[in-house]
Amino acid sequence: MKIIGTGSSHPSLAVTNDKIAQIIDTSDEWIWRRTGIKQRYVVSDERFEDIAADAAFKAMENSGLSSSDIDFIICSNTLNEYTTPSLSAIIQGIIGASCPCVDINVACAGFVYALDAANAYLQIGKMHNILIICAEEPTRMMNWKDRSTCILFGDGAGAVVVSDGEGFEASDLSTSSCTEMLYQKRGLCSTPFLKQKEESPDAGAVMDGREVYKRAVKYSARDIKNVLMETGITADDVTWFVLHQANKRIIETIARYLKQPMSKFPTDIERYGNTSSASIPILLDDLNRNGLLKRGDRIMFSAFGAGFCSGACLMVWNK
Ligand code: ACO
Repeated sequence: MKIIGTGSSHPSLAVTNDKIAQIIDTSDEWIWRRTGIKQRYVVSDERFEDIAADAAFKAMENSGLSSSDIDFIICSNTLNEYTTPSLSAIIQGIIGASCPCVDINVACAGFVYALDAANAYLQIGKMHNILIICAEEPTRMMNWKDRSTCILFGDGAGAVVVSDGEGFEASDLSTSSCTEMLYQKRGLCSTPFLKQKEESPDAGAVMDGREVYKRAVKYSARDIKNVLMETGITADDVTWFVLHQANKRIIETIARYLKQPMSKFPTDIERYGNTSSASIPILLDDLNRNGLLKRGDRIMFSAFGAGFCSGACLMVWNK
């Protein structure tokens, strides 16, 4: 499997830290120092599925393929206004594709899981061109009175087209169930048969930030080491570490742990905040469109999030 196209899209409204400080008790200085975030894009008056479809269109255009060439769509999404149908089915209609579609929900780790699944489908030989879209709207999951969570996130979508070819080296995925560390519950319809009245769910995502921080560093470093071991290369041999953009301090800690310079860890969290599973394909698209990726570059992807789910994947850039 190789990546043959990338695309990304964001809502039009940029919300700076200063703007957030007008709504809740925080400051640009606190957010910047603790997270590396300066601003994020937030859905205001556009349809979320149009942003997702825009990223998909751009990835297809970058790959030289059109929607009729796509054999399968995998969409990573944590929450959108539809429980059903799937977001991938909605996007399929907008982009005019006619292939089968599936959604996956692995929270922020979705891109790495989608790459792994796409590789397996291509290996079987049933599919040849797969569109992966990671589309997230985490600002709609937050309690905007909780200053320790709402400042972190931004909305957006990133997409890649993958195809038969040489590029995928290895991946390592893991899930260790720990639901209380980071979750959001939503209300379900009542029935006449429920034995107990259900409590109404919390107003937004609940997160133990310190615990997430510790696990993110521990599991990301472990996943990367496992992939390095499997492929027999060292961290020095990796050109780029493209990590989930959750918090710049998390990325800096992982870089120190791997004894690698920060110049190999590109970031765009300053501009976009944490866009959940969309953060890696958005960053990859920035690198691709700015001409920073060269044929033969080794790219280590690593992502982590609620579950606790994490994974790393090594690919050679062969576009
Ligand atoms: N502005 C000002 N002060 C704040 C804010 C804020 N936005 N948020 C919290 N504080 C205060 C707290 O109230 C606390 O004050 P106190 O000492 O008077 O009690 C103080 O700052 C320290 O709070 P901590 O929560 O200990 O701050 P910490 O340094 O841990 O930073 C943060 C919090 C940024 C959330 C950090 O824990 C973090 O980044 N964790 C990882 C979270 C993450 O990345 N989640 C997403 C990953 S998974 C996924 O992407 C779905």
